[in-house]
Amino acid sequence: MTTEPVSLTSALASFTERWSPRVVAAVNDYDVRVAKVEGEHVWHVHEHTDEFFLVLDGELHIGLREPAGERTVVLPKGSLYTVPRGTEHRPFAPVPTEILVFEPTGTLSVGDRHDDVPDHVDVTTGHALA
Ligand code: NI
Repeated sequence: MTTEPVSLTSALASFTERWSPRVVAAVNDYDVRVAKVEGEHVWHVHEHTDEFFLVLDGELHIGLREPAGERTVVLPKGSLYTVPRGTEHRPFAPVPTEILVFEPTGTLSVGDRHDDVPDHVDVTTGHALA
């Protein structure tokens, strides 16, 4: 991890892959990750951790399967949302979108349980910046 300031603009310009998060910082035992996303991710659940999303650009929708039923939260640029642990969720971006995610180091992008993972979704705990 660098001891120099990190430009999110530069970090986001350093890769093109969708749904393939880069680790830009560590805070205690949490990662700060950024990702470029578009289209559908996969329904999945993190049994033991909440997952924090901040939309840097574009628009992120997150489908949620809650005890009361299924709903979708819509996050325009500048909005944030925390998916509670144990809640099945599926991010979706209708347009090219950039997000920041804050979650424990080692958290898998597709959670502890998930539907079949499409080819365009990277199964990762986050990649180092190039
Ligand atoms: Ni998740």
